[in-house]
Amino acid sequence: MNVLIVGAGGQIGTELVPHLQKIYGEDNIIAADLRPEVVSRLSGGSRAIMLDALDMKAYTEVVKENKINRIYNLVALLSATGEKNPLLAWNINMGALLNSLEIAKEFNCSVFTPSSIGAFGKDTPHVKTPQDTVMRPNTMYGVCKVSGELLSDYYYSRYGVDTRSVRFPGIISNGCLPGGGTTDYAVEVFYEVLKSGEYTCPIPENTYMDMLYMPDALNACTQLMDADPSKLVHRNSFNVTAMSFSPKELFSSIEKRVNGAKFKYEIDPVKDQISSSWPDSLDDSCAREEWGWKPVWDMESMVDDMLTAIAAKLK
Ligand code: SER
Repeated sequence: MNVLIVGAGGQIGTELVPHLQKIYGEDNIIAADLRPEVVSRLSGGSRAIMLDALDMKAYTEVVKENKINRIYNLVALLSATGEKNPLLAWNINMGALLNSLEIAKEFNCSVFTPSSIGAFGKDTPHVKTPQDTVMRPNTMYGVCKVSGELLSDYYYSRYGVDTRSVRFPGIISNGCLPGGGTTDYAVEVFYEVLKSGEYTCPIPENTYMDMLYMPDALNACTQLMDADPSKLVHRNSFNVTAMSFSPKELFSSIEKRVNGAKFKYEIDPVKDQISSSWPDSLDDSCAREEWGWKPVWDMESMVDDMLTAIAAKLK
């Protein structure tokens, strides 16, 4: 297995690189990112290279030279950033995906491109959102995610490219901060509370969104790609979730462990609109049935682990 991760320096890639190294061996993983400072951070123990996934020629060379047969395409602007510059979000998110699919077709690679709860919109049923349902997102990020799911399925049925993906909810982690997402509050709060004892939340206290702790997210990335293809009824993309909570519920769990922690709300209208258009909870039974998805972290165990890890990091 020769694996290339493009957009490897983001929240998911930073932890997916070592996870893949453990499974497939260090020498078989190439981590690529556009930013030189990120490439030097990644290169500790891995083969890290500078690559702009929008540069088709350079991207093709890397795949050809290294005999890549699996691509994790993690290049994306997230939802809130996407609303600041929708055209840029479209160009980056779709440009990287189309290049990945075309290259995969030519060099016979499998491709994983995360989709998101952002693929749903205000007309989607919000509780236990089904696998197959209304998908009319209200953000450019979501428009890209739905288009990406359709394109990935198209490349599978038309050209036989082995495309698979999941609709990630908010991912909580302590490796690298997310940036520009609507679910970021659920990561930021841990740093702020441990640094200053306070956190000001941009999302209304009773807005529910699905979340995953990073170890479960990483397992989703590898388990789905290694799954028996004859069992897959769906491909792009599977609902996956491990927990659904509101800011109020998360903060009360943190308060129990951090004496005197204080929480305030200053609602960001863009994030408010986005978060209220997304599901409150997903039905992930298709992922469970078709490839054995089974998350292990719930909110309480995640909060314990995040507080320990971030306290150690801040020291
Ligand atoms: N975490 C992403 C965001 O908030 C959702 O996929 O934009």
